[in-house]
Amino acid sequence: MVISDFDMTLTRFAHNGKRVPTTHNILDHRLLIDEDCSKKIRELLNTYYPIEIDAGRTVEDKLPLMVEWWTQVHELLIQQRIRKDLLAQAVKESSAMLREGYKVFFDRLTEQQVPLLIFSAGVGDVLEEVIRQNNVFHPNVHIISNYMDFDQTGVLRAFQGQLNHTFNKREGALSHASGLRVLQGRPNVLLLGDSLGDLTMADGVSEHQNILTIGFLNDQMDERKELYVKSFDVVLVKDETMEVPNAILKYITSSTDNKLDA
Ligand code: TMP
Ligand code: MG
Repeated sequence: MVISDFDMTLTRFAHNGKRVPTTHNILDHRLLIDEDCSKKIRELLNTYYPIEIDAGRTVEDKLPLMVEWWTQVHELLIQQRIRKDLLAQAVKESSAMLREGYKVFFDRLTEQQVPLLIFSAGVGDVLEEVIRQNNVFHPNVHIISNYMDFDQTGVLRAFQGQLNHTFNKREGALSHASGLRVLQGRPNVLLLGDSLGDLTMADGVSEHQNILTIGFLNDQMDERKELYVKSFDVVLVKDETMEVPNAILKYITSSTDNKLDA
């Protein structure tokens, strides 16, 4: 099976020198939120994102600060009474972009009937819309994320369930992924992420014997390289493509094809 983070892992970090929006940032659209809210969310990003990626701070130190960040942003979004029926248009008009080679990646996993678990601390409703609009929301795709809870008139009133942030994916994996029947009995895992927190995404999936981890190092390269090389099996520096994961899948699945032919 493949377990992947979403923002900045399946989506690009930057394109033509401009940052590509995360699922939270896609919501920064006048159809959905007003200027004042947008300003507050950007200020929070400028305060907390440097902490999220700071190689000099421990995860224990970052944990309560991430909860603070996510909680404040979600509160602001709820106050805006976001309408469900406008999400698709906001995604369409955003500069959201999956990594080059994404179609080969999603399509090959579907053809080979390999489950793809996307595990994201972003916003699930927006994530689904991004992959739907790119025509890769295939039946083998399973998602764990922060989903919006809408009232009967389709207005955002809360977020569902336990909060997922960058550094509690282990808890999310244990409570959600462990219950997914489709993930049982698959001992070989390919894990993709861009944060050290993503390394815990397979913790809820019992029985895995072999795990190959790929880390996209998008930002603060010099400061984080050593830590990433120590933590992931493969580290891709400033690589906006799916070339390496696709090459690995091609290698594995073509040997499966050969076995089936034999
Ligand atoms: P991921 O788990 O799919 O990578 O999503 C989490 C990313 O979302 C994380 O790296 C930080 C980012 N983020 C924003 O860009 N804006 C926000 O307001 C919040 C709360 C998170
Ligand atoms: Mg990410």
